[in-house]
Amino acid sequence: MEYGPAPESSEAALNWLKGHGNKFRLYIDGKWQTPVSKKYFESTNPSTKDFLAKIPWGGIKDVDKAVKAAEKALPGWSKTASHVRARYLYAIARHIQKNARLFSVLESLDNGKTIRETRDIDIPLAARHFYHHAGWAQLMDTELPGFQKIGVIGQIIPWNFPLMMLAWKIAPAIAMGNTVVLKPAELTSLTALLFAELCEQIKLPAGVVNIVTGDGETGAALVDHPVINKIAFTGSTEVGRIIRQKTAGTGKKLSLELGGKSPFVVFEDSDLDGVVEGVVDAIWFNQGEVCCAGSRLLVQESIAAKLYKKIKTRMEKLRVGDSMDKATDIGAIVSPTQLKTIETLVKKGIDEGGQMWQPSWACPKDGYFYPPTLFTGVTPSSTISQEEIFGPVLVAMTFRTHQEAVKLANNTRYGLAASIWTENINLALDIAPKIKAGTVWINCTNIFDAASGFGGYRESGFGREGGKEGLYEYVRSIHDDKISNHPVDYKPRSTVRLSSSLQIDRTAKMYIGGKQVRPDGGYSMPVMGPHGQIGEVGEGNRKDLRNAVEAAHSQQTWTAMTGHGRAQVLYYLAENLDARKLEFAQRLISMLGVTPKDAREEVELSIKRIYFYAAMTDKYDGQVHHTIYRNVTLAMPEPIGVMGIVCPNEFPLLGFVSTVLPAIAMGNTTVVVPSENAPLSATDFYQVIETSDVPGGVINIVTGKKDQLTPVLANHYDIDGLWYFGTTEGSKSVEFASAENMKRTWVSPGKFRDWRKDDQGQGAEFLRNSTQIKNIWIPYGA
Ligand code: NAI
Ligand code: MG
Repeated sequence: MEYGPAPESSEAALNWLKGHGNKFRLYIDGKWQTPVSKKYFESTNPSTKDFLAKIPWGGIKDVDKAVKAAEKALPGWSKTASHVRARYLYAIARHIQKNARLFSVLESLDNGKTIRETRDIDIPLAARHFYHHAGWAQLMDTELPGFQKIGVIGQIIPWNFPLMMLAWKIAPAIAMGNTVVLKPAELTSLTALLFAELCEQIKLPAGVVNIVTGDGETGAALVDHPVINKIAFTGSTEVGRIIRQKTAGTGKKLSLELGGKSPFVVFEDSDLDGVVEGVVDAIWFNQGEVCCAGSRLLVQESIAAKLYKKIKTRMEKLRVGDSMDKATDIGAIVSPTQLKTIETLVKKGIDEGGQMWQPSWACPKDGYFYPPTLFTGVTPSSTISQEEIFGPVLVAMTFRTHQEAVKLANNTRYGLAASIWTENINLALDIAPKIKAGTVWINCTNIFDAASGFGGYRESGFGREGGKEGLYEYVRSIHDDKISNHPVDYKPRSTVRLSSSLQIDRTAKMYIGGKQVRPDGGYSMPVMGPHGQIGEVGEGNRKDLRNAVEAAHSQQTWTAMTGHGRAQVLYYLAENLDARKLEFAQRLISMLGVTPKDAREEVELSIKRIYFYAAMTDKYDGQVHHTIYRNVTLAMPEPIGVMGIVCPNEFPLLGFVSTVLPAIAMGNTTVVVPSENAPLSATDFYQVIETSDVPGGVINIVTGKKDQLTPVLANHYDIDGLWYFGTTEGSKSVEFASAENMKRTWVSPGKFRDWRKDDQGQGAEFLRNSTQIKNIWIPYGA
């Protein structure tokens, strides 16, 4: 039987465009404004290449106007009662629903994605995001006590899910009392402009949401604007990297949702017909232009031939064509440039020896179409196995053992999502935590919901969108305002001289892999007390850090231990520090000349802080999210991995404990650079570590010059997270260099905590920065 076309009418959307004379203005300060730049660009329909509208190009001056409007609106909006803000979000959600058809048609025309998907997925999920976050606006005071808005947020979104990405960005931002300037992707601005109209209709206060259309240059102007407090970006890893570098050291908060090469892992006991439908959703949903597309099919060898055959049969039946046809499975590729990228990568795949297969039918010629494509016989290191193609191209590989499956799955620099297919729940839940990705779908794929966080590990970026975890991207602690702009320390210093017996003259060693080691370079540096030199420490270099990172990596037991197990070790650590508290107090006096009272206080606070994190090991846990599907969605905090920690110079013992303990409590292993001028309490500390059953390699200590050691950590590819407490310059260099492997950073540009205060020196913020949330979706229902 032949299918006839089943076109959705585009009349209403075309009339809407016509009503605007097929030419738009910028939405700034609640008004439609002609661009100062006087420039326009065109948006077209990728299914037909038809012209749709002229879109204003926002230049620096336009961006500046929008940012200022957002700044002006900020005090009023952030002070608006939570439940009033909630009502605005609720009204937006309702209006999206009321105009759902217009939104879907417009989106399909502008992007080339099928009407079936915009109607059933994009637009409902956008509305859902506003409903869900209307709730969070309402609940901000009760559910997020101690948090406040961040300020003016710049948001830059891609073309693959235009309205949905807008919703993911704007809903949490304005729910938490921020105001925004959003820049849609240049290929797909129309639904954002319709959305602006809707903001007008519901009388959202002027300046809360500003829409500035334009291209990369417009986005760059937004990133550079000094008034912006945070940038939220979704798009290519390449641009994400540029933004990370540009915002380095500025104190601008940043969240990045970047590319992916997500594994779709099929074990031999899975329901193969279900798997085939899963594959369709994984890689042919949205033409494969999906950051979390299951683009790497990893199949257990025993069933590979059978599965490939079934997939090919299914591919023959897929329909590529006009996005407005309700019977179309795969619409048009968004632009000729993207089509070219796909064609180039496919050619490369063939050149590198992969076997390419496409269905027997041909694509329509009137738009930018590309057929569903399957590659087999590719090696894990080939270009198409590693590069994001962002098109309907599936790359298949096989594995034999479970271990090999995990290894292949993680053989990527990305870590956005994964799906696991097996009828064996034990196997699925064994594999899920082992795959480094922010979302793991079990026997399902590409499902999203506002109640669940979405975001990456590794080069897929950082930060989450959705769920409670996503809200932290748009708030900051009220205690932040107390953090000083100058180093905080004990004053006054005493003039008490210690007896010479305590003035140790040996060179304190470093501590790597559970062993005391001499510095690789053989150099040492003096440690000065208030009355002259009191000791020496090794001057660590690149090699010492490399060894320390290796030791931290080879430490396997710590992360695998239960929270309860880690707690016992940490309690023991606290106890052992307690037993030597006099000695540590004397060390602080000799290094800093602090009063005995202050020295005792620092040691006592350090002991208390270890107890705090020991207590938290089995209590900082996740959530089961209430997503809209029949799913248990587990949001689990996982350790980041190997973390570099550059300690503050102030409070050499307390600063060390306050930063290292939360990281190890959560299961990370660490490479620590202690206080530069007062490192001896850290080098004494390894004696406490050694007597406390902390496994070797969990805490590695490399003494030396912070300015020399920090860049090595920041550039190190095998460090997954880096905390830096020090100068503005140091913070900048850390954030800049981190762009290389997108390691998570936490820095303190020109900000100095009073580590004695619990509200600055300890708490959930430290644990959040030690972990990343993985959402595991487990469907139920027989
Ligand atoms: P892109 O990263 O250039 O564009 C994303 C957004 O960033 C757009 O709004 C763009 O105008 C803006 N932008 C570009 N340069 C900028 C800059 N220097 N500063 C600030 N904003 C800037 O992505 P593009 O060129 O559209 O697609 C290229 C590739 O990126 C795709 O082939 C795909 O592999 C990947 N991609 C990934 C997406 C994801 O969701 N992770 C979404 C879109 C593309
Ligand atoms: Mg378009």
